[in-house]
Amino acid sequence: MASSPSALSLTETSSLLALSLACFAIITNTFHGDGAPLVASLAFSGIAFAGSYSMIRWLGPAFMKAGLKGKDLSKVHKKEIPETMGAVCAVVYLLVITIFIPFPFYKDIVAATSGGGNRDVVMETIEHVQTGRFLHRFPHSKLASYLSAILTIQSISILGIGDDLFDIRWRHKFFIPGIASIPLLIVYFVDFGVTHIVVPIPLRPYLGDLLQLGFLYYVYMFAIAIFCPNSINILAGINGIEVSQSLVIAFLLVVNDCYYLLAPYPHPATDSHLFSLYMLLPFIGVSLALLVHNWYPSKVFVGDTYCYFAGMVFAVVGILGHFSKTLLLLFIPQIFNFVYSAPQLFRLVPCPRHRMPRFNARTALMESSVTEWQHPPKKPIAMLLKLLHRLHLLRVTENEEGTIIESSNFTMLNLWLVWFGPKREDRLAIEILVMQVLVGLAGLFIRHNFALLLFESDNVGV
Ligand code: UD1
Ligand code: MG
Repeated sequence: MASSPSALSLTETSSLLALSLACFAIITNTFHGDGAPLVASLAFSGIAFAGSYSMIRWLGPAFMKAGLKGKDLSKVHKKEIPETMGAVCAVVYLLVITIFIPFPFYKDIVAATSGGGNRDVVMETIEHVQTGRFLHRFPHSKLASYLSAILTIQSISILGIGDDLFDIRWRHKFFIPGIASIPLLIVYFVDFGVTHIVVPIPLRPYLGDLLQLGFLYYVYMFAIAIFCPNSINILAGINGIEVSQSLVIAFLLVVNDCYYLLAPYPHPATDSHLFSLYMLLPFIGVSLALLVHNWYPSKVFVGDTYCYFAGMVFAVVGILGHFSKTLLLLFIPQIFNFVYSAPQLFRLVPCPRHRMPRFNARTALMESSVTEWQHPPKKPIAMLLKLLHRLHLLRVTENEEGTIIESSNFTMLNLWLVWFGPKREDRLAIEILVMQVLVGLAGLFIRHNFALLLFESDNVGV
């Protein structure tokens, strides 16, 4: 009897089971020791991978039945497959990260309660004030950061599922992540509250050493929370690209975190980067499981939920870990795609529902997709489009009278195809990913070598 496509094969079941059992055994043995929470986080990430992998497979038919499905537009046979599978990842992630809460605080809980409960802590605090003896206090602000991160990611996942269910309009859904970021910004305000930036050395004669941004700093963080999820959602449209670009950013952030943790001296930013790893490792676990199913030829789609969820995980670690500038260095391709998309996003140029590259059924290759101009563009816009065409930043088609009748869509994927010609869907994804890795590594290299020249210190905060 043929097994249903949602069933796991025997090899898959036994591998996932073995992985889960090994991870479970590690977790039950890792309450003690200095690196214990990190080892536990790795083990939890293994469980997150196994959980998401099997649930994505099992829940596919149920999602289709509930209407959560989409047509794979770039195939000869435009089959319908389950959509919104990012919701499964987000739920597994949230479960795992919630169960993980006691682990990074285990030592603090033991020290603060010292076997006597909370009352003793209060009494000891008084004694401490009188004697001046060292007393271990529970790091409430660290716990608050952690809980606000979970709340923000939870909110964005719910709002993302709402978007996938009701296909909210772009001008409305653009601001969704801003609402979800409020718990994060409140905790930042109450517990950290730093709103200045370190001024680069050449500008110090004019601006001083530190530039106080005040309220504008919150606008900046709010903008990051809106930008990260949306920028992933618009660098989309070919199989696997949403998840794989997120995985590249996550791995590069982990490399950056390790740089601090492996420093030859205890770095002052160690705690921020441990927090970042605790948030990123399970994210990598659930995303790898999704990628196996979403890579070309896709068996499931990720939905907007995944793009919002992924972008918000990055915004959370960048903001609460105080390295949002480094984070933006890893978003250079997304920033380019966003800026390049602006004419269509802000409707200076018509924007169709889908801007993904066009699938040519005859060659089975992806080509740059175009927008047809129903009415000829106004003169200044036409001149600008023709200039971009001459600079090889766009492809426009004119009729005999020289009037523009169509132009390629303003996305990085289309531009890549304009530059390098038609190619297979997975090949296009791989080339974009290789470019992203190279740009990201260059960004990190610049960050860790030139920050010293520009700021005198490697620990430039944000
Ligand atoms: C964003 C992009 C849109 C792009 C779409 C593709 C902007 C402003 N919007 O819209 O241009 O076309 O993502 O995800 O830039 N699909 C495929 N193959 C894939 C991925 C998606 O065919 O590899 C199709 C499926 O029909 C799927 C649909 O795209 O159902 C999902 O689109 P959705 O994520 O809802 O689009 P948006 O995020 O609104
Ligand atoms: Mg989308």
